[in-house]
Amino acid sequence: MAWYHPLLFALDAERAHSLTIATLEAWGKAGAPLAPRTDDKHAVTVAGIRFPNPVGLAAGVDKDARAVAGFLGLGFGFVEVGTLTPQPQPGNPKPRIFRLPEDRGVVNRLGFNNGGIDAALARVAALTPRPGIIGINVGANKDSTDRIADYGTAVAKAAPLADYVTINISSPNTPGLRDLQSQPELGQLIAASDAARHVGGKRVPLFLKVAPDLSREGLEVAIRAAVDGGIDALIVSNTTISRPDTLRSANAKETGGLSGAPLAPLALAKLVEAREIADGAIPLISAGGVGSADEARRRLDAGASLVQLYSALVYEGPGLARRIVDGL
Ligand SMILES: Cc1cc2nc3c(=O)[nH]c(=O)nc-3n(C[C@H](O)[C@H](O)[C@H](O)COP(=O)(O)O)c2cc1C
Repeated sequence: MAWYHPLLFALDAERAHSLTIATLEAWGKAGAPLAPRTDDKHAVTVAGIRFPNPVGLAAGVDKDARAVAGFLGLGFGFVEVGTLTPQPQPGNPKPRIFRLPEDRGVVNRLGFNNGGIDAALARVAALTPRPGIIGINVGANKDSTDRIADYGTAVAKAAPLADYVTINISSPNTPGLRDLQSQPELGQLIAASDAARHVGGKRVPLFLKVAPDLSREGLEVAIRAAVDGGIDALIVSNTTISRPDTLRSANAKETGGLSGAPLAPLALAKLVEAREIADGAIPLISAGGVGSADEARRRLDAGASLVQLYSALVYEGPGLARRIVDGL
């Protein structure tokens, strides 16, 4: 534990998060002194994008794209901002992020709080020179009357500024959102997003992010739709609504999506299933409980081309990305 950990842990989880973002935002603006790693040894090409290393910052950390340069400066090979929705929205009432310290997990029910896609994209556009690979994760507004149209709108806005765009249909905190993982909605959603991703002559890569709570059949449906619809990579996975028996923290009973170490076995199992189903037809990105070089290596060996992480940062601190990359 770093010296400031007790200070951050004394704060409510969302306040600690805001403080972290503000610090990294300031550091990024000051010209984050540690440039992202570019050594060829760790570089991977996925969907035509060259990632300097395979360890990414998962969506939800920097929802509003305030601290992209700062996170890249910490050694992440790529940063996925968002989830961003067409209209700004406040999300659910606080408190809505809970640490599970005994389990090294997190439960959140944020509900896509964000300042809206336009404000975030203005921040991304202002990043010159471009500090690294930036994915833009998009979703639908909670009160939208046409969620599929929201994805089309958000993809069209994001594509000109994104190295890739992720369609997030797997948050458990927007009621009904995960129904979009089933047909016929999924096919319609992918078609609308595909139509919106072209910028000039360029086809911006589209990634799809799924829940770990999909059954094998559900995963088969999602993968078939993704491959047929021209999706370039699948992110497995978002947080889980399940609660393993092993959990010890009082906050385990909070409503929301569970992430961090307790999600690792399920995230790995779903990655393995996805590899069996996809059989090489689409690249896989593993998220869920990655918190060490060993765990990252396990995911790469199990078929992931890239990994992403969020919750382990809470427990392991800002040096984590660099330690994982060095340990690979
Ligand atoms: C507080 C919090 C907020 C999140 N917000 C988003 C989000 O806005 N969009 C998204 O696609 N995933 C979101 N996630 C899910 C993460 O991107 C990731 O898929 C999940 O947490 C599993 O990785 P981890 O175990 O390393 O945290 C969020 C996770 C947490 C803990």
